[in-house]
Amino acid sequence: MLDAAKRDAEGKLEYTLPPLPYAYDALEPVISKTQLELHHDKHHVAYVAGLNKTLAAIDAAARAGDTAAVKALSADLAFHYGGHVLHTLYWPSLKPGGSAPTDNLAAMIERDFGSLENLKKWLSAAAVAVAGSGWAVLAYEPVGQRLVVMQTEIHNNLVGWGMVPLLPVDVWEHAYYLDYQNRRADYVAKLMDIVDWQAVGARLAAAQK
Ligand SMILES: [Fe+2]
Repeated sequence: MLDAAKRDAEGKLEYTLPPLPYAYDALEPVISKTQLELHHDKHHVAYVAGLNKTLAAIDAAARAGDTAAVKALSADLAFHYGGHVLHTLYWPSLKPGGSAPTDNLAAMIERDFGSLENLKKWLSAAAVAVAGSGWAVLAYEPVGQRLVVMQTEIHNNLVGWGMVPLLPVDVWEHAYYLDYQNRRADYVAKLMDIVDWQAVGARLAAAQK
């Protein structure tokens, strides 16, 4: 995953906050500068820190032979890892003005959902209906080789093995509350206008290789 992890000279892995691929105010008026700044610089960064901290704690517990501590920390690991992965995919899935799907993505949307409008309808409905904090995700399902719309509670519950997230829609309140307050449906509807379907298509092509 681009720019979201690195290894130092000794080979030690560290997860890192990827820079936004656009200016903080680039997504206005759909997402305000302040909202985007807080989301990226305060929330995403906290998952990165939580992930590195949890991995260090697991490493220490494993070295000490404390299997109970390793087990207890595993839930934190899944949470922070899920948060880091989904946010890392969320930023480059958006683009001022959006873009249209082409090639294989366009064909699979047509086959699996009937039309882009239908897919947007299903994805939006899934996003609006997430209970509490979570995500709606357009994913590639490799066994059936198809596109699916799924929901993920918090960052990591209800995840199917092998599913490749292509387009995550963040519906945690921290993603929209400053701009839309309780109007999650308005945020999701506006977000659909700035999806970079070309970036989603590139992710699909990589997943199918
Ligand atoms: Fe978020």
